[in-house]
Amino acid sequence: MPAEPSGDLHLLVAEREELTADVVRLVLRDPAGAPLPGYRAGAHVSLTTPSGQRRSYSLVEPGARRPEHYAICVRRDAGGRGGSVSLHDDVAVGDVLAVGAPANGFALRRAGRYLFIAGGIGITPVRAMVAELRQRAAAGAGPRVELLYLTRNREETVFLDEFSGADGSLVHHSAVSGRLDLWPWLAEPDDDARVYCCGPTALVEEVLALTAHWRPSRVHVEDFAGVDPLGGRRTPFTAVWEPTGARVEVGADSSLLSALRRAGVGVEASCESGTCGTCRLRLLAGDADHRDLVLTDEQRRTQVMACVSRAVSGELVLAPPR
Ligand code: FES
Repeated sequence: MPAEPSGDLHLLVAEREELTADVVRLVLRDPAGAPLPGYRAGAHVSLTTPSGQRRSYSLVEPGARRPEHYAICVRRDAGGRGGSVSLHDDVAVGDVLAVGAPANGFALRRAGRYLFIAGGIGITPVRAMVAELRQRAAAGAGPRVELLYLTRNREETVFLDEFSGADGSLVHHSAVSGRLDLWPWLAEPDDDARVYCCGPTALVEEVLALTAHWRPSRVHVEDFAGVDPLGGRRTPFTAVWEPTGARVEVGADSSLLSALRRAGVGVEASCESGTCGTCRLRLLAGDADHRDLVLTDEQRRTQVMACVSRAVSGELVLAPPR
């Protein structure tokens, strides 16, 4: 069971609502009603589930400077590692959860036009982003916003009423209409536009493939399924911890994060699946096999995510983030 990170807030589950058969919405508040640390749309919080796992969930409401609550949606993933099932089965109104301050690796950046592509529960950060942009539009300064919301059917679609028929939104159910061809939206690269995609790995990979001719900086993805830390090719390697000179062997059946922790190197982590950006380390030397979904190509020259990344061969020289 991971230790609860220092600095966690202890928040009361103030509301619980079943949005669909598999998705529950939880509203978390300070027990004394104090305002919470602020965030911008696209942010997530990490929390410790009653079963002891640390999991990250996007905040589904537009950002605020001093929010009164955080709202998250949790999809039950019966085939997952148990965190979502525990939140569904073990959490009731009145319980207290340890929750980290919001972090944001999927923030809105300036653009004249936005295209959001959300698959299933990937709508959660996108909902916050679209709402924030529409607030700006209502103030008369809004860019153009389009949303493609892809789900299997009506029954599994959260916030259906909010997006169905809404201006600039297309809700597409694959069980009814088949797979949506995204090419018409992505064929023409546009340096004034940004594409944000959040959803399952297959959708994220499809969008990355279809935008290969776009400038990489205009395309932002978040894969809520994350990366299997022990997936793919697993060559043993050595991590050299530069502050102490310690040499840490990372076996084929261990992640870099686990090996460092076993060696007494404290590395903060949250999602442990390459999506949240918490376990970022400086890469001083070595050829890393990056597997995260956070770092840009530029950042990959000097940084590495310890939870999922490995070395192509030989050794990596690492240091804590500045
Ligand atoms: S812990 Fe989230 S990216 Fe590594």
